[in-house]
Amino acid sequence: MINAINELRAAAIKSLDAAVDPSTLEQWRIEFLGSNGKLKEAMARLKSAPREQKPELGRLANELKVALETEFAAAKSRMSADPPAASVDVTLPGVDLGSGSRHILTRTIDEIIEAFARMGFSVADGPEVEDEWHNFTALNIPEGHTAREATDNFYMGEHAGIKRLLRTQTSTVQIRALEAQKPPLKIVAVGRVYRPDTHDATHFSMFHQIEGLCIDRALSMVDLKTALIQFAGAYFGKDAEVRMRPSFFPFTEPSAEVDMKMEVRGQLQWVELGGCGMVDPHVLQAVGLDPEEWSGYAFGLGIERIAMRRYGIADIRWLYENDARFLRQF
Ligand code: DAH
Repeated sequence: MINAINELRAAAIKSLDAAVDPSTLEQWRIEFLGSNGKLKEAMARLKSAPREQKPELGRLANELKVALETEFAAAKSRMSADPPAASVDVTLPGVDLGSGSRHILTRTIDEIIEAFARMGFSVADGPEVEDEWHNFTALNIPEGHTAREATDNFYMGEHAGIKRLLRTQTSTVQIRALEAQKPPLKIVAVGRVYRPDTHDATHFSMFHQIEGLCIDRALSMVDLKTALIQFAGAYFGKDAEVRMRPSFFPFTEPSAEVDMKMEVRGQLQWVELGGCGMVDPHVLQAVGLDPEEWSGYAFGLGIERIAMRRYGIADIRWLYENDARFLRQF
């Protein structure tokens, strides 16, 4: 009888070691600890044992019961803490999360900056919340000029007697750069600008410009046009052309509007991209440079205009709606 109990213990332990998943473990529980299981069966047989052996056998049987229950609990908690590798089917296909891509405007900006960087321009920037000095005064836009009107600007109140506004043009960075660096310098700056325009297919109250500024000795319109032609060739391809039409900007003299010939839906077309000119002497004086010694050219181009024409985007608002169906096309 004692042997039978020891054999049962050995068989139970051996079979428990072989139970590798929850269902074989449950089968083991039914086989050994179940109400019709082998332990119950062995205990029932104790009844027929000789009277004087009963206390000893009873103690052994109870010990076995406790031992098996403990082993079972341990095996069960091991299994739930550490699911066997066999339950993960590594051959199942994964869930495709899709891959994102950079926004078409971001890509355009990066490509434009790269083209200018290869031409020797370094990258500058300035704040979007500006003061009147950088947005107007230093750029030769005098007090009372229509460009300063409340309806054309997002004014943000005064701070320490200085009126602040969301910048309306990246030309502010011309002043920021000249305050921070000594000429000669050659910079481009890309950033957001803000104007209270009514939204439609070609107007949005926030958009991006790229500003260029080169200050050196004895620069002329030739240098300006050369830079624009080089950029057009690098960015739009060798068929690109640049056209300048006389215009007026307070911060350049002479001033011109810039058109570039680019491919629009397979056809070369003139697209108006922004303004340019020779830096006005008043601007140089505003940052403490002697206009007799220094000269400069500047330009400002609209990023959305470039991207919209280049990629056939008919409505500027689509660029800001974050509709994945639109964004996925690029
Ligand atoms: N700041 C002008 C605008 O927003 C664009 C511009 C024109 C920039 C001529 C320039 C420039 O640097 O020389 O309309």
